[in-house]
Amino acid sequence: MNFPILSTGAALPRTCVSNDDLVARGVETNDAWIVSRTGIRQRYICEKDESTFTLARDAAVQALERAGIAAADVGVIVVATCTPDLSFPSVAALVQGAIGAPTTCAALDVNGACSGFIMALATAKGLLAQGMGKHALVIGAETFSRVVDWNDRGTCVLFGDGAGAVVMGCTDDGVKGLTGDAAPQGLLAVELGMDGTQAGCLKSSGGVSSTQTAGVVVMQGREVFKQAVRQMGQVPPVLAQAGLALGDVDWLVPHQANVRILEAARDALGVAADKLVVTVDKHANTSAASIPLALDAAVTDGRIARGDIVLMQAFGAGLSWGSAVVRW
Ligand code: UT7
Repeated sequence: MNFPILSTGAALPRTCVSNDDLVARGVETNDAWIVSRTGIRQRYICEKDESTFTLARDAAVQALERAGIAAADVGVIVVATCTPDLSFPSVAALVQGAIGAPTTCAALDVNGACSGFIMALATAKGLLAQGMGKHALVIGAETFSRVVDWNDRGTCVLFGDGAGAVVMGCTDDGVKGLTGDAAPQGLLAVELGMDGTQAGCLKSSGGVSSTQTAGVVVMQGREVFKQAVRQMGQVPPVLAQAGLALGDVDWLVPHQANVRILEAARDALGVAADKLVVTVDKHANTSAASIPLALDAAVTDGRIARGDIVLMQAFGAGLSWGSAVVRW
């Protein structure tokens, strides 16, 4: 069975906020600190009429249009988010209703924070493999601007809002239309990991069942940094599962938290600098949306081409991690 990635889509809030804009908004910081410590130059922040749902919907509609797939042909919708519009129903339910996907479709959210998109890919693959349709919308969508403590300069400058989506297919044979050969296509292997004993390193300060609020982001930055570099700097088992080696990787598309983490992990892996896709400078950390937004950027500017091997790597709250390898 093949799980080809047919298209990508992206949606960003209307308002782009530079580091200097943050200073103007009263955050006690400066452009030089943010750029040197994180590589972030700007982020997009939702206005009142924008939300995780509207971003997820817009990214999904764009991905469907680019794939030439009608909403009526979607069998699975998985939205990775930890910043949903409502505690329930899910963002996936709102997207299903808004785009007119069939009521027979499996639609659910996955709360995996920064590893959420890899979890969503794994979930969608499993649902498609069980026969729940021929096409899945896999979406990462977040509005971290709504859960950061704007008085905590150590965290509020790091995050942004956005959504990215892919349409994943499911076929029994090779997908000749994509690469013209019969080699395995699309999502070749995916793996996930979790160490819940470290939940306190990066978490929300509240929730429905504890404080009856969404809480705000609380992070032990240095500890998370260290663990992220250690985890993302290891050769992920997905490569061997897919019968590949690091040398086969054309594009490294990691979760975009901090350019220093990305470069340290890339160095540890020994991957060439020009194979690393970086969008954290433009989007900041958009949690579960960062990998699909980075994929969309590198596909739409022509870097990622059909047949390329793409390695995605995520790390975040949990502490959680995950990797996926795709033959594009
Ligand atoms: O999505 C996955 C999870 N997130 C991450 O992967 C993030 C991981 N962590 C990091 O990226 C880094 O730890 C940070 C970027 C969050 C922080 O960088 P750091 O080099 O570890 O800085 P720090 O927190 O140790 O702070 C160093 C200094 C402090 O000043 P003093 O005590 O040395 O005088 C902070 O008060 O920088 C100060 N500082 C700031 N200054 C200007 C902290 N935040 C800011 C700020 N602007 N926004």
